[in-house]
Amino acid sequence: MLRKVLLGTVCAAVISLPAAAQDEVEVLHWWTSGGEAAALNVLRGDLEAGGVSWQDMPVAGGGGEQAMTVLRARVTAGNPPTAVQMLGFDILDWAELGVLADLNALAEEENWDAVVPEALQAFSRHEGVWIAAPVNVHSTNWVWANANIMRELSLEQPTDWDSLISTLQAIEDAGYVALAHGGQAWQDATIFDSVVMATGGPEFYQASMIDLDPDALGSETMLEVFNRMGQLRGFVDDNFSGRDWNLASAMVINGEAGMQVMGDWAKGEFLNAGQVPGEDFLCFRFPGTQGTVMFNSDQFVMFELGDEGQDAQVAMASAVMSPAFQSAFNVVKGSVPARTDVPNDDFDACGQQGMADLAAANEAGTLYGSFAHGHASPAAVKNAIYDVVTAHFNGEYDSETAVEELVFAVEGAQ
Ligand code: GAL
Repeated sequence: MLRKVLLGTVCAAVISLPAAAQDEVEVLHWWTSGGEAAALNVLRGDLEAGGVSWQDMPVAGGGGEQAMTVLRARVTAGNPPTAVQMLGFDILDWAELGVLADLNALAEEENWDAVVPEALQAFSRHEGVWIAAPVNVHSTNWVWANANIMRELSLEQPTDWDSLISTLQAIEDAGYVALAHGGQAWQDATIFDSVVMATGGPEFYQASMIDLDPDALGSETMLEVFNRMGQLRGFVDDNFSGRDWNLASAMVINGEAGMQVMGDWAKGEFLNAGQVPGEDFLCFRFPGTQGTVMFNSDQFVMFELGDEGQDAQVAMASAVMSPAFQSAFNVVKGSVPARTDVPNDDFDACGQQGMADLAAANEAGTLYGSFAHGHASPAAVKNAIYDVVTAHFNGEYDSETAVEELVFAVEGAQ
């Protein structure tokens, strides 16, 4: 029913759209933090230099839930933006409605097939047609640490669960906030990504988060995952609830907190604050997830606007996929290029590790879509798991109840 309603509205939208200027794109996105805005300005500058003006449509809210809500309202009102930042399964859901522009001609002309990893193409193409231009590859299984606190306390980078817990305890005992965190469902879920992988390993992550196997979701291993989430809950400060992710990053940047578990968009905040990896902050894989990469790729999709907006949309997709842009943008954003043919010369140590990890995981078959950022399951399932994870993190469920609720929630969302 929703599909028909939305499709009906959208078809009407395409017919009744106001004529957008040939050389203008209206871009809906959620890149509103300091580091994100700095990266976005690289794209905006490239387009404006190429004669395409940029109408900004920022929707604040980490992880993009709020942006997707605004998008649905815009489309329902018959007024879709020219281009939208989108993740994983959300792209495929919109593609199913037949409302996204076909980018095949450009993709063939620029040979995207040869340079975009298969794991990304799974979300950039629908039924063989390119419907999205991938900007980057982020990954979520990172820890960001304040280097001065680690040095002051003579702490080594933790490599397994027990050393992570003892390191957090030492930081807390020294009077710092051990774990900087923002109590928002998507942030709780971002930590959950790593704890599932660290506790059960790649096969368990695949079975539980991607295959949605009820036996895995209801297993003793999942009980241990929730117990571990409870341990991490014990290391956050009393004011964590509702805190935006970039304010948690700022706690590590300014030396108030020792660590943050967050995707590598956090690095954009450290760089934006003028900090240097290895000197001011450390980046390392969440202990127990080494050798795997849990990815989410920011892609731009273009809504089908008929002939009106096509030139500007093609210009934007081409700008997004240009190797020079993919280097300049990702150096600032904290992610790595979506293209495999971009040199790593301009990337810092964390960026070079990210690129090496991605290539190795791609080769080894240990590249997994992030559940928390829409690359493991459709939005309905993702949001159902969000609800259970955040209810547990906030103490509404004990671990046993969380496991039971997880099985029911996932079953009900499919
Ligand atoms: C992710 C997105 C990143 C960053 C992050 C925080 O979903 O891929 O680019 O925006 O959310 O909002």
